[in-house]
Amino acid sequence: MDKLVISGPTKLKGEVTISGAKNAAVAILPATLLIDGVCKIDNLPNISDVKMSCKILEQLGAKITWITDNEIEIDTREINCTQAPLDLTSKFRASYYLIGSLLGRCRSAEVGLPGGCNLGARPIDQHIKAFEALGAKVEVAQGKITAKVKKLVGTSIYMDIVSVGATINAILASVLAEGTTTIDNAAKEPHIVDVANFLNTMGADIRGAGTDVIKINGVKKLHGNTTYSVVPDQIEAGTFMLAAVASRGDILLKNCIPEHLDCITAKIFEIGGTVEDYRDSIRVSMNKRPNKAVVKTLPYPGFPTDLQPQMGVVLSLADGTSMIHESIWESRFQYTAELNKMGAKITAQGKSAVFEGVKSLTGAPVYATDLRAGAALLIAGVVANGETQLYNIEHIDRGYENIEEKFRSLGANIQRVVEPNANN
Ligand code: UD1
Repeated sequence: MDKLVISGPTKLKGEVTISGAKNAAVAILPATLLIDGVCKIDNLPNISDVKMSCKILEQLGAKITWITDNEIEIDTREINCTQAPLDLTSKFRASYYLIGSLLGRCRSAEVGLPGGCNLGARPIDQHIKAFEALGAKVEVAQGKITAKVKKLVGTSIYMDIVSVGATINAILASVLAEGTTTIDNAAKEPHIVDVANFLNTMGADIRGAGTDVIKINGVKKLHGNTTYSVVPDQIEAGTFMLAAVASRGDILLKNCIPEHLDCITAKIFEIGGTVEDYRDSIRVSMNKRPNKAVVKTLPYPGFPTDLQPQMGVVLSLADGTSMIHESIWESRFQYTAELNKMGAKITAQGKSAVFEGVKSLTGAPVYATDLRAGAALLIAGVVANGETQLYNIEHIDRGYENIEEKFRSLGANIQRVVEPNANN
């Protein structure tokens, strides 16, 4: 098992290029199942969740050619199987998008219950509600979801909860339905807009993505013959912004969309940092101990839950006592126990945590409990005094492209080591 060995402290300085968004890519890839043709996708992040998605698509009949590490050509003219391989779908959360895509394309889908980060209960009742509203019969049994329909018919879907995954799945299932579908109380994350833009580029008619009412006028067919570029990753960009602040460094982030980062920028100003907006790049610097703050995670455009652990590292070093309220995932504070091993003083209970700021952290052996916890502990290792050994980094590889190379290019002293007997 690989681990990262990080020697700190380092003030991160220099330039970093942000990759394509993981959460957009893992939805756009299954969305290609709706296309009866060949398309190219570029700015794909080279991460394990993307490779897994491609493997699944190949098993369903898609033909994929890798043009570069970040660009593929995908031919979905012959989809000959509607049963997604259970061993692969159980490994990551976004495999649930195969249900909406297969249902839309083949009117039938059999997909294993999704895996992914252990962040607490991750129900999919809103996804199922959307499929049923469109006319599908859905069954959950023996660890898999089966959905079948003779004809998908457009309808009104009201989401009881703002859900990224259910919003995208409802879009996927309705793009080729007969008539118009309306999704009320839709999620508004940048990657929802990106999936809609991708599908519209291929001939779909989706309006209102990025607002809380999305309208989909069903079309007969989606064509290929187009190249689509995945949107820059809001969460990777936010991770480097917060790494700049935690390390009291100065980083220029290239290939990002500053308006997607407004809520993080606002918090960085509040805690005493500086952010300069250059339209498709952003420079973040910090030259003092951060001020304390109160943070509450919310659906977009609120502060993203996927940046909560990275913000937790910053606040663990703040001058004064800070609070974080997590409103999306019940088990998102697992990283705090690891951070406390490095000298942080965090008390987490339920959906809130109190951060009594300390002056510095000290290196220690720590374990990534999930993807974003891994990114947070990596930042902690960079800013801590001494050596940190970070285990379970397969979580990080699911969502960050070339993470150690990117941090190394900013001055971090970080090595990947293969350790066969590591355990947690
Ligand atoms: C997506 C992201 C994940 C991010 C999360 C919230 C992907 C692949 N993953 O996950 O990184 O942390 O958005 O921004 O894009 N819920 C229900 N019923 C449902 C669906 C969701 O109760 O049917 C609840 C969840 O338990 C959670 C909240 O709604 O409390 C939001 O979840 P959702 O937006 O669906 O998250 P994901 O799409 O799984």
